[in-house]
Amino acid sequence: MGNRWAIYQRNSQNKAGSTKVGSGLTQREMKAIRFSWKKVSADMKTNGTSFFIKFFECHPAYKDYFPAFRDKTVEDLHRSLILQAHGISVMYSFTTLVENLNDETYFMKFMKQSVRSHHSRGVSLQQYEEMFEVLIVFLEEKLGDAFNDDTRRSWERLRSSFRSPLNRCARRRNWDR
Ligand code: HEM
Repeated sequence: MGNRWAIYQRNSQNKAGSTKVGSGLTQREMKAIRFSWKKVSADMKTNGTSFFIKFFECHPAYKDYFPAFRDKTVEDLHRSLILQAHGISVMYSFTTLVENLNDETYFMKFMKQSVRSHHSRGVSLQQYEEMFEVLIVFLEEKLGDAFNDDTRRSWERLRSSFRSPLNRCARRRNWDR
């Protein structure tokens, strides 16, 4: 994971000249996303674990994709260091995405890498999108009133902005819904 994180960071630096609008979001939307994400990512350990528990609550059958969690109860999951580590890794990947919303090169790299890694694990395109939906529900629960309509719309726009590049990458790899 360390190596992958280093690659993400290297690829994600906004070099002068290579910066285009990747996600298609406005500055105001990006600001709302960054601001809300900063609060949640301040505690990746706790929030990464809670996010995954929320994800499995919404989609209990998806635990089967994770050999380490397959037979675990919710109580086990709360105590699982593997879940904690995985939660942190996914939180980091969202963090680099949020930090690079205006970098088209990075945005596409994120997409391709994610599609490759999840397609090979048998995760469907629809399931991949569902994780994003759960993320929005999770943010709302965590942030309460701070998750206002503007913030929600911005996250929803980010989710939709994934669709077209995601579909393009998926088609190239024959990844079905
Ligand atoms: C927005 C959607 C998602 C993001 C950003 C994401 C991110 C990640 C990241 C960063 C990793 C670790 C690095 C890697 O191996 O690629 C990972 C691994 C993994 N993901 Fe996802 N993921 C998403 C959706 C899903 C969904 C929907 C499933 C299953 C239903 C899933 C199943 C897995 C599995 C099984 C692993 C490997 C875990 C292990 O090493 O044991 N992911 N994901």
